[in-house]
Amino acid sequence: MKHYMDWGMKNRLAQLIQADGKALFLPIDHGYFQGPTRMLEKPGETIKPLWQYADALMMTRGVLRNCIDPAISKPVIMRVSGAATVVGEDLANENLVTSIEEIIRLNASAVSMSVFVGSKYEHQSLSNLAKLVDECEDYGIPVMAVTAVGRELEKREARYLALCCRVAAEIGARVVKTYYCAENFEKVVDGCPVPVVIAGGPKTETQREVFDFVYDGMQKGAIGVNLGRNIWQTEHPVAAIRAIRAIIHDDYTAEEAQGLFEQVKAGKA
Ligand code: R5P
Repeated sequence: MKHYMDWGMKNRLAQLIQADGKALFLPIDHGYFQGPTRMLEKPGETIKPLWQYADALMMTRGVLRNCIDPAISKPVIMRVSGAATVVGEDLANENLVTSIEEIIRLNASAVSMSVFVGSKYEHQSLSNLAKLVDECEDYGIPVMAVTAVGRELEKREARYLALCCRVAAEIGARVVKTYYCAENFEKVVDGCPVPVVIAGGPKTETQREVFDFVYDGMQKGAIGVNLGRNIWQTEHPVAAIRAIRAIIHDDYTAEEAQGLFEQVKAGKA
Protein backbone atom coordinates (compact mmCIF):
# COMPACT_ATOMS: atom_id res chain seq x y z
CA MET A 1 0.00 0.00 0.00
CA LYS A 2 2.76 2.40 0.96
CA HIS A 3 4.54 1.76 -2.33
CA TYR A 4 1.32 2.47 -4.21
CA MET A 5 0.77 5.72 -2.34
CA ASP A 6 4.32 6.89 -3.04
CA TRP A 7 4.23 6.12 -6.75
CA GLY A 8 3.14 9.57 -7.96
CA MET A 9 5.71 11.35 -5.82
CA LYS A 10 8.49 9.02 -6.91
CA ASN A 11 7.50 9.28 -10.55
CA ARG A 12 7.48 13.08 -10.47
CA LEU A 13 10.82 13.22 -8.70
CA ALA A 14 12.24 10.79 -11.26
CA GLN A 15 11.13 13.13 -14.06
CA LEU A 16 13.04 15.97 -12.43
CA ILE A 17 16.10 14.23 -11.03
CA GLN A 18 17.58 11.99 -13.70
CA ALA A 19 18.72 8.37 -13.35
CA ASP A 20 22.27 9.58 -12.57
CA GLY A 21 20.91 11.47 -9.58
CA LYS A 22 21.60 14.86 -11.22
CA ALA A 23 19.42 17.66 -12.56
CA LEU A 24 19.51 20.79 -14.69
CA PHE A 25 16.48 23.01 -14.12
CA LEU A 26 15.98 26.03 -16.36
CA PRO A 27 14.03 28.80 -14.60
CA ILE A 28 12.14 31.48 -16.50
CA ASP A 29 10.03 32.66 -13.57
CA HIS A 30 11.80 35.99 -12.99
CA GLY A 31 8.93 38.06 -14.39
CA TYR A 32 6.82 37.26 -11.34
CA PHE A 33 8.64 39.94 -9.36
CA GLN A 34 10.86 41.71 -11.93
CA GLY A 35 8.43 42.22 -14.83
CA PRO A 36 9.87 41.81 -18.34
CA THR A 37 13.40 40.83 -17.35
CA ARG A 38 16.10 41.43 -19.97
CA MET A 39 16.15 38.60 -22.53
CA LEU A 40 12.99 37.17 -21.00
CA GLU A 41 10.59 39.65 -22.58
CA LYS A 42 9.13 36.76 -24.57
CA PRO A 43 9.79 33.67 -22.48
CA GLY A 44 8.53 31.27 -25.15
CA GLU A 45 11.12 32.62 -27.60
CA THR A 46 13.90 32.64 -25.00
CA ILE A 47 13.58 28.95 -24.25
CA LYS A 48 12.97 27.71 -27.79
CA PRO A 49 16.63 26.78 -28.48
CA LEU A 50 17.30 25.83 -24.86
CA TRP A 51 14.57 23.68 -23.42
CA GLN A 52 15.80 20.45 -24.98
CA TYR A 53 18.96 20.68 -22.86
CA ALA A 54 17.08 21.14 -19.57
CA ASP A 55 15.64 18.42 -17.35
CA ALA A 56 12.77 20.66 -16.23
CA LEU A 57 11.50 24.20 -16.75
CA MET A 58 10.47 26.48 -13.92
CA MET A 59 7.84 29.17 -14.43
CA THR A 60 4.57 30.65 -13.23
CA ARG A 61 1.17 29.54 -14.43
CA GLY A 62 0.80 32.75 -16.48
CA VAL A 63 3.88 32.08 -18.59
CA LEU A 64 3.06 28.39 -18.84
CA ARG A 65 -0.45 29.01 -20.14
CA ASN A 66 0.43 31.80 -22.53
CA CYS A 67 3.92 31.11 -23.79
CA ILE A 68 4.54 27.38 -23.67
CA ASP A 69 3.23 24.83 -26.14
CA PRO A 70 1.21 22.26 -24.16
CA ALA A 71 2.77 19.56 -26.32
CA ILE A 72 6.19 20.34 -24.84
CA SER A 73 7.59 17.18 -23.33
CA LYS A 74 9.40 18.67 -20.35
CA PRO A 75 8.41 18.51 -16.73
CA VAL A 76 7.34 21.84 -15.27
CA ILE A 77 8.20 23.15 -11.83
CA MET A 78 5.52 25.72 -11.18
CA ARG A 79 6.41 28.83 -9.22
CA VAL A 80 3.46 29.31 -6.86
CA SER A 81 4.60 32.09 -4.51
CA GLY A 82 4.48 35.77 -5.35
CA ALA A 83 2.54 38.99 -4.83
CA ALA A 84 5.59 41.22 -4.20
CA THR A 85 7.69 43.11 -6.76
CA VAL A 86 11.00 44.95 -7.07
CA VAL A 87 9.18 48.29 -6.90
CA GLY A 88 7.09 47.32 -3.89
CA GLU A 89 7.79 47.69 -0.22
CA ASP A 90 9.33 44.33 0.58
CA LEU A 91 10.19 41.43 -1.70
CA ALA A 92 9.84 39.01 1.20
CA ASN A 93 6.14 39.74 1.61
CA GLU A 94 5.05 36.84 -0.58
CA ASN A 95 2.05 34.58 -0.39
CA LEU A 96 0.87 31.47 -2.19
CA VAL A 97 -0.70 32.62 -5.44
CA THR A 98 -1.77 29.37 -7.10
CA SER A 99 -4.29 26.83 -5.83
CA ILE A 100 -3.67 23.11 -5.61
CA GLU A 101 -6.44 22.57 -8.20
CA GLU A 102 -4.58 24.80 -10.67
CA ILE A 103 -1.31 23.02 -9.95
CA ILE A 104 -2.94 19.68 -10.78
CA ARG A 105 -4.90 21.07 -13.76
CA LEU A 106 -1.71 22.43 -15.37
CA ASN A 107 0.03 19.11 -14.77
CA ALA A 108 2.95 20.48 -12.79
CA SER A 109 5.60 17.91 -11.92
CA ALA A 110 6.63 19.99 -8.91
CA VAL A 111 6.03 23.40 -7.40
CA SER A 112 8.43 25.98 -6.03
CA MET A 113 8.11 28.84 -3.58
CA SER A 114 10.52 31.23 -1.90
CA VAL A 115 11.28 31.24 1.79
CA PHE A 116 12.69 34.41 3.31
CA VAL A 117 14.44 33.22 6.45
CA GLY A 118 15.54 36.06 8.74
CA SER A 119 13.26 38.62 7.10
CA LYS A 120 10.27 40.41 8.59
CA TYR A 121 8.14 37.87 6.74
CA GLU A 122 10.00 34.76 7.84
CA HIS A 123 7.04 33.32 9.73
CA GLN A 124 4.64 34.00 6.85
CA SER A 125 6.80 32.37 4.21
CA LEU A 126 7.66 29.34 6.35
CA SER A 127 4.00 28.86 7.31
CA ASN A 128 3.11 29.07 3.62
CA LEU A 129 5.75 26.44 2.88
CA ALA A 130 4.17 24.13 5.45
CA LYS A 131 0.73 24.71 3.96
CA LEU A 132 1.94 24.06 0.43
CA VAL A 133 3.75 20.88 1.49
CA ASP A 134 0.59 19.61 3.19
CA GLU A 135 -1.53 20.28 0.10
CA CYS A 136 0.97 18.93 -2.42
CA GLU A 137 1.94 15.79 -0.52
CA ASP A 138 -1.72 14.70 -0.66
CA TYR A 139 -1.34 14.50 -4.44
CA GLY A 140 2.25 13.30 -4.65
CA ILE A 141 3.60 16.63 -5.90
CA PRO A 142 7.09 17.57 -4.69
CA VAL A 143 7.74 21.03 -3.30
CA MET A 144 11.03 22.77 -4.06
CA ALA A 145 11.84 25.50 -1.55
CA VAL A 146 13.79 28.46 -2.86
CA THR A 147 16.01 30.01 -0.21
CA ALA A 148 15.62 33.64 -1.20
CA VAL A 149 17.85 36.47 -0.07
CA GLY A 150 15.80 39.33 -1.53
CA ARG A 151 18.02 42.31 -2.28
CA GLU A 152 20.57 41.36 0.35
CA LEU A 153 22.93 39.39 -1.83
CA GLU A 154 25.57 39.52 0.91
CA LYS A 155 23.47 36.95 2.76
CA ARG A 156 24.94 34.35 0.41
CA GLU A 157 27.25 32.76 2.94
CA ALA A 158 27.32 29.20 4.25
CA ARG A 159 26.01 29.68 7.78
CA TYR A 160 22.90 31.50 6.62
CA LEU A 161 22.27 29.28 3.59
CA ALA A 162 22.74 26.11 5.64
CA LEU A 163 20.15 27.35 8.12
CA CYS A 164 17.64 28.18 5.36
CA CYS A 165 18.09 24.85 3.57
CA ARG A 166 17.79 22.80 6.73
CA VAL A 167 14.68 24.64 7.90
CA ALA A 168 13.02 24.25 4.48
CA ALA A 169 13.79 20.52 4.45
CA GLU A 170 12.52 20.10 8.01
CA ILE A 171 9.23 21.68 7.00
CA GLY A 172 8.91 19.16 4.19
CA ALA A 173 10.48 20.49 1.01
CA ARG A 174 11.56 17.55 -1.20
CA VAL A 175 14.24 19.61 -2.96
CA VAL A 176 15.91 22.84 -1.88
CA LYS A 177 17.33 25.50 -4.14
CA THR A 178 20.02 27.71 -2.70
CA TYR A 179 22.86 29.97 -3.73
CA TYR A 180 26.41 28.76 -4.11
CA CYS A 181 29.00 30.23 -1.79
CA ALA A 182 32.74 29.92 -2.28
CA GLU A 183 33.48 29.05 1.34
CA ASN A 184 32.08 25.99 3.11
CA PHE A 185 29.38 25.20 0.55
CA GLU A 186 29.70 21.55 1.61
CA LYS A 187 28.25 22.55 5.00
CA VAL A 188 25.12 23.79 3.26
CA VAL A 189 24.68 20.49 1.43
CA ASP A 190 25.77 18.22 4.29
CA GLY A 191 23.31 19.79 6.72
CA CYS A 192 20.37 19.36 4.39
CA PRO A 193 18.64 15.95 4.26
CA VAL A 194 17.11 16.53 0.80
CA PRO A 195 18.78 17.21 -2.57
CA VAL A 196 20.19 20.71 -3.08
CA VAL A 197 20.29 22.58 -6.40
CA ILE A 198 22.26 25.76 -7.02
CA ALA A 199 20.69 29.00 -8.27
CA GLY A 200 22.77 31.20 -10.48
CA GLY A 201 22.11 34.73 -9.33
CA PRO A 202 22.84 37.84 -11.43
CA LYS A 203 24.85 37.37 -14.60
CA THR A 204 28.57 36.97 -13.94
CA GLU A 205 31.34 38.89 -15.74
CA THR A 206 32.66 35.83 -17.52
CA GLN A 207 31.12 32.54 -18.55
CA ARG A 208 34.01 30.68 -16.93
CA GLU A 209 32.96 31.89 -13.46
CA VAL A 210 29.68 30.01 -13.88
CA PHE A 211 31.41 26.80 -14.96
CA ASP A 212 33.73 27.12 -11.95
CA PHE A 213 31.00 27.53 -9.38
CA VAL A 214 28.75 24.88 -10.88
CA TYR A 215 31.66 22.42 -10.93
CA ASP A 216 32.70 23.24 -7.39
CA GLY A 217 29.11 23.08 -6.12
CA MET A 218 28.67 19.65 -7.68
CA GLN A 219 31.93 18.41 -6.14
CA LYS A 220 30.60 19.54 -2.79
CA GLY A 221 27.38 17.58 -3.10
CA ALA A 222 24.80 19.65 -4.99
CA ILE A 223 22.77 17.49 -7.39
CA GLY A 224 22.55 20.19 -10.03
CA VAL A 225 21.39 23.69 -10.81
CA ASN A 226 18.37 25.87 -11.25
CA LEU A 227 20.11 28.47 -13.32
CA GLY A 228 18.52 31.16 -15.42
CA ARG A 229 20.22 34.48 -16.10
CA ASN A 230 23.66 32.95 -16.48
CA ILE A 231 22.23 30.96 -19.36
CA TRP A 232 19.63 33.03 -21.19
CA GLN A 233 21.10 36.49 -20.53
CA THR A 234 24.45 35.48 -22.01
CA GLU A 235 25.60 36.07 -25.56
CA HIS A 236 25.70 32.35 -26.32
CA PRO A 237 22.89 30.69 -24.38
CA VAL A 238 22.99 27.35 -26.21
CA ALA A 239 26.75 27.03 -25.73
CA ALA A 240 26.30 27.99 -22.06
CA ILE A 241 23.56 25.46 -21.30
CA ARG A 242 25.35 22.66 -23.15
CA ALA A 243 28.56 23.30 -21.23
CA ILE A 244 26.71 23.41 -17.90
CA ARG A 245 24.86 20.23 -18.80
CA ALA A 246 28.19 18.52 -19.48
CA ILE A 247 29.41 19.42 -15.98
CA ILE A 248 26.23 18.10 -14.42
CA HIS A 249 25.58 14.94 -16.39
CA ASP A 250 28.91 14.07 -18.04
CA ASP A 251 31.37 14.88 -15.24
CA TYR A 252 33.14 17.61 -17.21
CA THR A 253 35.54 19.83 -15.30
CA ALA A 254 35.12 23.60 -15.59
CA GLU A 255 38.06 23.61 -18.00
CA GLU A 256 36.47 20.95 -20.20
CA ALA A 257 33.15 22.78 -20.07
CA GLN A 258 34.89 25.95 -21.23
CA GLY A 259 36.32 23.94 -24.14
CA LEU A 260 32.89 22.65 -25.12
CA PHE A 261 31.48 26.17 -24.76
CA GLU A 262 34.09 27.49 -27.23
CA GLN A 263 33.41 24.66 -29.66
CA VAL A 264 29.63 25.15 -29.64
CA LYS A 265 30.14 28.90 -29.97
CA ALA A 266 32.31 28.31 -33.04
CA GLY A 267 29.72 25.92 -34.51
CA LYS A 268 32.09 22.96 -34.15
CA ALA A 269 30.05 20.86 -31.74
C1 R5P B 1 14.22 34.02 -8.77
O1 R5P B 1 13.82 34.19 -7.64
C2 R5P B 1 13.87 32.87 -9.48
O2 R5P B 1 13.22 32.00 -8.61
C3 R5P B 1 14.94 32.13 -10.22
O3 R5P B 1 14.39 30.93 -10.61
C4 R5P B 1 16.22 31.86 -9.50
O4 R5P B 1 16.76 32.98 -8.91
C5 R5P B 1 17.25 31.21 -10.42
O5 R5P B 1 17.54 32.00 -11.50
P1 R5P B 1 18.91 32.79 -11.66
O6 R5P B 1 19.92 31.75 -12.02
O7 R5P B 1 18.67 33.76 -12.78
O8 R5P B 1 19.21 33.44 -10.35
